[in-house]
Amino acid sequence: MGRFSEAELIAAAQAARARSYSPYSHYAVGAAVLTRSEQIFTGCNIENASYGATVCAERVAIWKAISEGERDFEAIAIVTINGGSPCGICRQVMAEFAPAMKVIIADTSGNMRVTTVKDLLPDRFAMEDLTSE
Ligand code: THU
Repeated sequence: MGRFSEAELIAAAQAARARSYSPYSHYAVGAAVLTRSEQIFTGCNIENASYGATVCAERVAIWKAISEGERDFEAIAIVTINGGSPCGICRQVMAEFAPAMKVIIADTSGNMRVTTVKDLLPDRFAMEDLTSE
């Protein structure tokens, strides 16, 4: 992964997790996305009293990268207390930009597994599916 190791990407996600705003679920999530230009953008989950306004850590990291002009993703690391898997909305967002991206799912005890967006979301709905009548 260029100049960053999987362990470094996990460490960045873990640091972002410390900034989670999750007073409702008490489930803190941190994410770090690595771009092909070898930059890391991090995110944490940000909850809201109006629950539906909550945003997941993965999307915060991805939105930050995209809004800074970076859309070419190589890997994302996600850290939770129990190694929880990314939600369906985040999978769809990852698939929009980087269907082949590596996804590193880690917990706070040092366990991790590596998968891909393709494996997490096979048969994605994509731009090519949008045809008009
Ligand atoms: N959450 C994430 O940040 N990422 C996921 O992939 C799963 C869920 C957050 C949203 C909410 O703040 C909390 O975890 C509980 O659902």
